[in-house]
Formats: sequence, structure tokens, C-alpha cells
Amino acid sequence: MSDMTISKDIAYIGASDMKIKLFEGQYILEKGMSYNSYLIKDEKNVILDTIDEKLTDIWLENIDKNLGSEGLDYLIISHMEPDHSYNIEVLAKKYPNMKLVGNQMTFNILSNFFNIDLSERKIVVKEGDILDIGKHKLQFFMAPMVHWPEVMVTYEQTEKIVFSADGFGKFGAVEIEDEWDCEARRYYFGIVGKYGVQVQALLKKLSTLDVKMICPLHGPILKENLEYYINKYNIWSSYEPEKEGVYIACSSIYGNTLKVANKIAEILKQKGIENVVIGDLTKEDWAEAVEDAFKYPKLDRKAHV
Ligand SMILES: [Fe+2]
Ligand SMILES: [Fe+2]
Repeated sequence: MSDMTISKDIAYIGASDMKIKLFEGQYILEKGMSYNSYLIKDEKNVILDTIDEKLTDIWLENIDKNLGSEGLDYLIISHMEPDHSYNIEVLAKKYPNMKLVGNQMTFNILSNFFNIDLSERKIVVKEGDILDIGKHKLQFFMAPMVHWPEVMVTYEQTEKIVFSADGFGKFGAVEIEDEWDCEARRYYFGIVGKYGVQVQALLKKLSTLDVKMICPLHGPILKENLEYYINKYNIWSSYEPEKEGVYIACSSIYGNTLKVANKIAEILKQKGIENVVIGDLTKEDWAEAVEDAFKYPKLDRKAHV
């Protein structure tokens, strides 16, 4: 299990879906999926993001366990995609004095999703605004298209934590220990991959902050060696290769194009390029192909049926 403890005042209140087989109905999951949510207790109590529909009960239990009979003052909405926003209305009903914090785009979307009277309850924030909740100060940075237009990240200045929304997320439940790179890469390319420019813009903003911890909306909390993860995001979002090699993507109805691909691979190998991989697009899951390719060279593949 990943260590999801944060600090005396900040608790992980998320949960994992161990039964889910496809994320967003299309990305294969073999080790479940976590949906993260966080609670900060201070003079004002704050929750950052709600949770997926299927995990509502366990999430509400986590809130009760951590908050007891105390009130909840704010819900910060980083992202309106239903895996994080489903329970906004549930929480708004449970805590009628709670204010909702988002940007203008958040509320444009929210009013189409829910029927909540926001007249006394919404706090609209802009780039750089700070919400002072006591010891903790929450600063907001917009991250449009990482990967929806309303996405924003929150920087907690006192403990120097970035709540990074879907950024730095990963497939897999946090109860299961596995290597970060593989499933974080596959998550990145499946979910955020085409918004490299926007991710670069976010990384630029993060580079101006002193960051000690990254708390994403999926996957483990990143506590050490943050440069490593930020560097991976930098490579992925700038479409640079992580390692040198040639990937030959092919599809072949009668097997002849595959023969050509094999021949190209053979020639490249002879020329000294070691990492050559053929991806047979007629057979490989498109969300797996690249990752698979780097792990399992397929030069020997003969049958094409
Ligand atoms: Fe999302
Ligand atoms: Fe998400």
C-alpha cells in the first residue's frame, strides 16, 4: 500500500475501486483505480474534491471519521469530471453552510450538472488568489485543458503541497504497490497526452513554487524525489523520447505489410539500432501499444492470422 499519510492537519479521505476493469470505459485496468480526496483541518475546514459515484459511501465514512461533528467550510473543486465531481451536490446538502470554491468555468459547468442554489455559496477564484483558512493558505493556479477547461491546481503555502488535480495521476489502486512510471505514463498519454502545451504551461507555474509534496486525484501521493516525476512530465509533455529507439507501427490484413515491417526492423538492427519494436496495430490495444512495445520486443512475431 502506498503511504497516503500527509500531515497532522491534512488527511487522505479518498478510496479505491478494486473491481473496475476499464477506466473511462476504455483504458484497461488490472489493479483497480484510486479516486483521491483530501481534508484540511484548520480554523476553517476544507475538502479538496469529491469522489466517484461508486465510492460515495466509503468516502462519506472517511469524512465522518476525520471530521467528526465539526463543520465543513469549503469544498475546493479542482475538476468537474464526474469521477471527482459526482458528490458535489451530496456534500452541499450534508453541509449547508459549506461554500464552493472554483473558477468561473467551474461554475459554468457545475450549473449544468447540478441544481444547487449558489447565490450565497460560491466563491469564484482567479489565477494566484489565496484562500486563508488559518495556518494554511491555499493558492490557486489555473491549469486549463489538463485536461478539461476548468481544471485548477491548489498550492498550500505552509506545508508546500501541490494538489495537482489529474496531473501526476496514475492507474491502479493505492492499496497495491507497483512501479509508478508504467501506469502513470499510460494514464498520462491516455488522458492528458494531447495537451502537452498546456501541461508545459502548468509545469512552468509549478517551477516558481517550493514544492515538498504532490497530491494528485489518482494514485499515490508523491513525497520524495519530486524532480524525478516532474522531469517525466516534462519529457512526456514535450513529446521527447524517454529512451532512444524506433517504433514501427503497422497494420497488415494479409501479413505482407508485417513482413515489410519485420524487414525494416531487421535492417535497423543491422545498422546498430538496438531498440527496435514492431507494434501490430490490428491486435494491440491502442492504450497499451507503446508501453507494451518498449517492454516486449516483437521482432520474432511470425504468425499473422
Ligand atoms: Fe479528468
Ligand atoms: Fe480524474
